[in-house]
Amino acid sequence: MRSLSLTAVLLLPFSTASTLKARASTLIPSTVFDSTANLEQYFTYNYPWGGDTHNGGARMDKAHVSISSPGTLTITAQPVKGQKPATHGGKQIAINYLSGAVGAKQHFTVPKGGGLVFSGSFQATTTKGTWPAFWLTAVNGWPPEVDMAEWKGSGKISFNTFNTSSVLSWKDVTYSNPSQFHDIKCQLRDINGKDTQVKYWMDGVEVTTHYGKDYTEKPLYLVINLQMEGSSGSPGPTTNTTYSVKNLQVTTL
Ligand SMILES: *[C@@H]1O[C@H](CO)[C@@H](O)[C@H](O)[C@H]1NC(C)=O
Ligand SMILES: *[C@@H]1O[C@H](CO)[C@@H](O)[C@H](O)[C@H]1NC(C)=O
Repeated sequence: MRSLSLTAVLLLPFSTASTLKARASTLIPSTVFDSTANLEQYFTYNYPWGGDTHNGGARMDKAHVSISSPGTLTITAQPVKGQKPATHGGKQIAINYLSGAVGAKQHFTVPKGGGLVFSGSFQATTTKGTWPAFWLTAVNGWPPEVDMAEWKGSGKISFNTFNTSSVLSWKDVTYSNPSQFHDIKCQLRDINGKDTQVKYWMDGVEVTTHYGKDYTEKPLYLVINLQMEGSSGSPGPTTNTTYSVKNLQVTTL
């Protein structure tokens, strides 16, 4: 503490530890899934860039998203026939499920010298053909993309950051007890006014650190969705699959 400036010395007696900590602000409060009204205050249905299909075999709709008990968001993927195929990357993808996606209404940006923390508790399946995810992706162009957690039907959970469009950093971890809720936390922090460090935790244990090149100051979408088939293999399940999230919170660092 030898280098405490005069200003800091003068201010300290007036600031308690809690007022200093309170400078982190809440962008999405943990009450977000307490009711449908709270959910709809912070999230829209389907993909936040518009559209009800993306890179797999599910068509998203509002009917497959619910507040299943106060504090819990549940998305249900239901097998279906006779749906029009999706088109993604110039290819047609058969739609074999109706499911759900929610996208945050606000965009999130890592500011110079600051950061963001996304956390929640997730109950997700690792069955073949099920692809639940909790992820951030670029509002303009691509990347950034941070897959804060995704489960691609392999018995594992994956944590991925696209350093650039051609360089992916990834960490796959064995995922035990998928029927239980597991805590996920992801922290994005500016490191030099331009690049962002991404740290991941599962059940309170730090898992890995990645870097996103030029992520700082780029707006991000937040998506929670239950995609099916695609990267998680096919055919997927012939009965309903659910994906639940509680204690979701987004704060500044
Ligand atoms: C990713 O980006 C960071 C920041 O620009 C850089 O230091 C790092 O070497 C890059 N590559 C990987 C694989 O993380
Ligand atoms: C499957 O999910 C749909 C949509 O939530 C629901 O209407 C239907 O009753 C479910 N089917 C079964 C067998 O639980």
